[in-house]
Amino acid sequence: MHKLKDSVRAFRWVSKPKKKLFVLDQLLLPNKEKWIPCVNHKQVAACIKDMNVRGAPAIGCVAAYGLALAAVEKKFNSPDALLAYVVQAKETLAKTRPTAVNLFWALERMMGFLALALAQAGSGKDSVQKIQKNLEDEAVRIFDEDLAANFHMGKLGAALFPNNAVILTHCNTGSLATSGWGTALGVIRTAYQLGKIKKVLVDETRPYLQGARLTAWELSKDGIPYELITDNMAAHIMKTEKVDAAIVGSDRISAQGDVANKIGTYGVAVLCKHHGIPFYAAAPTSTIDLKMKRGEDIPIEERSVREVTHIKNFSIAPAGAVARHPAFDVTPRELVTAVITEKGVARPPSLETIAQLFRPAAQKQAALSSI
Ligand code: MRU
Repeated sequence: MHKLKDSVRAFRWVSKPKKKLFVLDQLLLPNKEKWIPCVNHKQVAACIKDMNVRGAPAIGCVAAYGLALAAVEKKFNSPDALLAYVVQAKETLAKTRPTAVNLFWALERMMGFLALALAQAGSGKDSVQKIQKNLEDEAVRIFDEDLAANFHMGKLGAALFPNNAVILTHCNTGSLATSGWGTALGVIRTAYQLGKIKKVLVDETRPYLQGARLTAWELSKDGIPYELITDNMAAHIMKTEKVDAAIVGSDRISAQGDVANKIGTYGVAVLCKHHGIPFYAAAPTSTIDLKMKRGEDIPIEERSVREVTHIKNFSIAPAGAVARHPAFDVTPRELVTAVITEKGVARPPSLETIAQLFRPAAQKQAALSSI
């Protein structure tokens, strides 16, 4: 058994004396650890859009805190005035990144909670304060639940790995991408704790380099053995060495189990199929979009081509090079061995096995199987 430090967090909420969200600036990692203080929802929205904070579950949590900030960043004379302001703050936050469904999930959950709080509130100043407190509590609950889901998913996923496993992962799905511990990286962490991991193969993840800059940083902090590879080395290594499984996170999973994730994930899944290697996706159920049946309908974020033609401020292409930057791709469910969630494992993913995760009996079973 290995003991892990689990010291990394992507953001921290401070309630008193003044409500603030501190975001660890991931654009500067791994070279510098700088925290950005956010005191209003616009600063939070900018941090999400500019990718100072990234990773679907982290984006959801931070957006929830953004709404909690919106509720206190001005003086409101009535609950209705607060509602009007929070509604437009929600619109601002919703426009930041289109693929990560956790963003919309968290905003909807906060707005639903606000509607309930309003229905129960009176009309005076006391009511405004009560609603502000309720919104903050709900954001903290979203954070706590995400963390608990990651630990649970870690146990369910680690059980699928063999002993002495070599595991390939793509992008960053650790504490930096979530409330803590991680989804796919959380499964790897739990498996490492159980003594099951020989080494992790870390795809560098062009163009934003989440693997090289963030996953390698998290793994080295925890002392988990890893090798960093460029994305185009995965095929050669799968052909010539033992790779036991690949595991990735997700930004949105369709109702039938197609997995949208960082660009390059689909390629990893195709390689796994060719080499007979299991390909797993680990994500909380807040990443499953039951309203979207087919993966083809998931919106794919197109980011600036400068992130392709440049590394930091250094140009790696001729001036004026025509480039593309779809930031995500969709892996069809046929290539996914299983989707691992905190409510159980959908194996193989399908309309039926995904729907099963949301049935109460399945949830009880998943809870029991991790004890
Ligand atoms: O563009 P990013 O860095 O936000 O993309 C992150 C990913 O693709 C992750 O794999 C995904 O959000 C799952 S994170 C637990």
